This record gives sequence, structure tokens and C-alpha cells, in this order.
Amino acid sequence: MRMYDLIYTKKLGGALSPEQIAFWVKGAADGNLPDEQSAALLMAICWRGMDTEETLALTLAMRDSGKRLDLSSVPGLKVDKHSTGGVGDKTTLILGPIVAACGVPCPMFSGRGLGHTGGTVDKFAAIPGLKVELTDAEFLHSLKATRFANSAPTGNIAPADKKLYALRDVTATVESIPLITASIMSKKLAGGADALVLDVKCGPTAFMKTLDDARTLAQSMVDVGRAHGMQIRALITRMDAPLGWAIGNALEVMESVEILRGEHGDSDLAQMSFRLAAEMLILGGGASTLEQALAKVQASIQNGAALETLRRFTALNGGDARALDDFSRLPQPGQVVEIRSDRDGYITAMDGRALGLLAMDLGAGRKDQSDVLDLGVGIRVQARVGARIEKNDPLFTVYTKPGSLVTSSDYLRTLQIDPTPPPRAPWLLSTIGC
Ligand code: URA
Repeated sequence: MRMYDLIYTKKLGGALSPEQIAFWVKGAADGNLPDEQSAALLMAICWRGMDTEETLALTLAMRDSGKRLDLSSVPGLKVDKHSTGGVGDKTTLILGPIVAACGVPCPMFSGRGLGHTGGTVDKFAAIPGLKVELTDAEFLHSLKATRFANSAPTGNIAPADKKLYALRDVTATVESIPLITASIMSKKLAGGADALVLDVKCGPTAFMKTLDDARTLAQSMVDVGRAHGMQIRALITRMDAPLGWAIGNALEVMESVEILRGEHGDSDLAQMSFRLAAEMLILGGGASTLEQALAKVQASIQNGAALETLRRFTALNGGDARALDDFSRLPQPGQVVEIRSDRDGYITAMDGRALGLLAMDLGAGRKDQSDVLDLGVGIRVQARVGARIEKNDPLFTVYTKPGSLVTSSDYLRTLQIDPTPPPRAPWLLSTIGC
């Protein structure tokens, strides 16, 4: 088999066979194929796409490039969640402990942030001492002891994805529905969960800018999951403004804990986290209707069980659980700067992507995979879309390293302020399989 022929076939829009796809993925992962040939094929796939069979074959080949975690020693249906990435998305920190507290085991592998989007692993890393790369034995122990486990994927989960994602990242080939499907689903299938809830983000701050594209991606992932016996449903959620008030790792831990304490319950972030948790409970057999599942979610907040699960998970994995009750134990910024409005009006739009990039520049996110983060820095969004503001009202609080220059106009530029209020935009745009 020659890689040249695969590239040529795809360049002309033809379909690759499962054997050809397996040949490519194996060769890319073990370094036997030159990167330029993989890069050329990735670009051809971006332009020409892949049909369902090809996407399935690519997912399987990537899954089988490494090990599969065996969770069969943990009783019950294990349910995971995946979000396609956004700004201020800390739903895993909220819903993982909720679902576990409601009796459904929740094994989760999370990524690190890159560019304007944050990563759940970095948010957990802001809890002092918490180990965020668990061995298989530690992962299983956490899942058995607390029903919740979260870790960066170990090197051997779908290693072909690491190789191909690094190539996609530098060749502008990330935004392809079959490539995203195979990348995400290969890791999810290797992670060993029985069921999965997907949160497919849609909007200017997300990979998928239009509802049509988001629905196509969601359906593609649902089809692949189901073909492999996974129970799976997807929510399509709006991603324009940041989710919640916090952008930045320690700040996002604080906001998650506040929601687990029962605060901000009517915010989009809380409502989205509760709904995703409820869908997970239904898939895991912990509830049979949405109403019942949402009632269980609320009970776990009200009786403190969800927050207690987060404390136990933290302590079990080396973290300082006292930091969840005393935020002064979390990483702190060196300087705090207030950004105030230069006019009166209503906030009608907020550019989450631009705010994510500003947070990255502060040190909360990575420009490059090798960047070291400052876990204490970030941005507090003080006024949400729809808010009426007067001149000099606080809009953002910026938490920085000592002495960093903060330019107010960079922040003001992320907002659109108009004389009339915007229509209320729902956070839930669509569902698939729910
Ligand atoms: N997240 C992934 O893990 N892979 C992609 O391709 C895109 C987002």
C-alpha cells in the first residue's frame, strides 16, 4: 500500500477503505510515514470530507492505536460527558460531582486548554496539590471510592490522535467534522465509559459557527458512538459570550464551587450544567425522566452531597480540599484591575473568543502546548449580556501578574453596548437523541 495513492484518491473525492485508513493511522502513530504525507491527506479530508464508513474506520483505527481502559470492575453504567470547547466552560467541575453524588459513576478524561479555549485539566490543576494525571490504578480507585474520576488522558489513550492533532493544529485542518468526530470519539471509546453526553458548542466562539454544522457534528458523533454500542445523546448549546462569570483557572474553580453551594442557580452556566448532569443520570439509569433527573440534581446541591463529592475526590487525589471552602488557599493574582464602562446602555453582545485570547495573554491559557500557566490570573465578567449599565459601572475585573499592563480599550472592544436591550437568547439550541 502506498500513502501517495490514499492522498490521490481523497484529493479526487474518493472514499478510503478501512484497510487504507488503518495503514495510514498506524504509520502516522508509529512514525513510519512522513508528516508531510499525513498533512496532505488531512488537508484533502478537510476539503473532500469522509463518509460515515470512513469516519467509523478512522475512529476505530485511532482508538486501537493505544490501550482501552477496562472499567468493568466498577459496578453500574459509567457515564462520561464531552464538550467541544468554549470560554469559561467549567461544566465538568460542576456536573461530575453532581452525577457521582446521585449514584452514577462518572469517569472523565479531560484536555488541557489551547488558544482561546480553556481546558478542564488546567482548572482542576488550580486546586493545590490535586493530581491531574492519574495512573490507571489511581483513576479506578477514585472512581470506585467517590464515583468520580478526572484525569488528563494517559499517553497511551489513542496516541494516534495526539500525533494527528498536533499536525492538524499547524496545518489549519482542525475544523473538519470527520476529523473532529474521530479525534473525540476514539478517545471516548478508549476511555471505557458505557454512555456519553455530548455538549456541542455552536456560535462565533466555537469550532462550529452555525447550527447546521453543529447538528452535523453532533449527529456524526452520535452515529459513531451508537455503532460501537455506546448510549449517547447530544445537546447543542450556544457559545458566544463566556459561560459564567469566570475565565481563568482558580476563578473557574471558585465559580464551580459557588454553583455546587447553590449560588447562581438560575445562570446559564448552572442551568446547562444541571441539564447535562440530568441527561447523564438518565443514561446511567439513575433517573427515568428529565423531571426526575433534574430533581435529583437539585437535591444533590441542596443536601451538600455534590460539593462533598468534590471535596472527597480532591482529598483522595492529593489536593487540598480546604481550598474549596477557603478560596484564599487557591492560587492568587499579583494585581487586580477594574475595567469600567465609558458609556450608558445595554450590553447586547460579548465576544467570548476575544476575552479568551485576553485571558490567554494574561497567562491563564496557552499560545503553545509547552506554555506554563499562571493559575491565579483571569477575568471576572461583572456585567452579562442584557445588563443595563451606566457610565463608570464595573464591566470586568482583571486579575494579573504583578506589574502587568492592562489596556482598558482591549476589554471595552469585546462588548457591544446599545441603547435598547437585546432579545433573550436561549443557551440550549437543539438536542439529538434526548
Ligand atoms: N477536541 C478534540 O479532542 N479533538 C478535536 O479534533 C477537536 C476538539
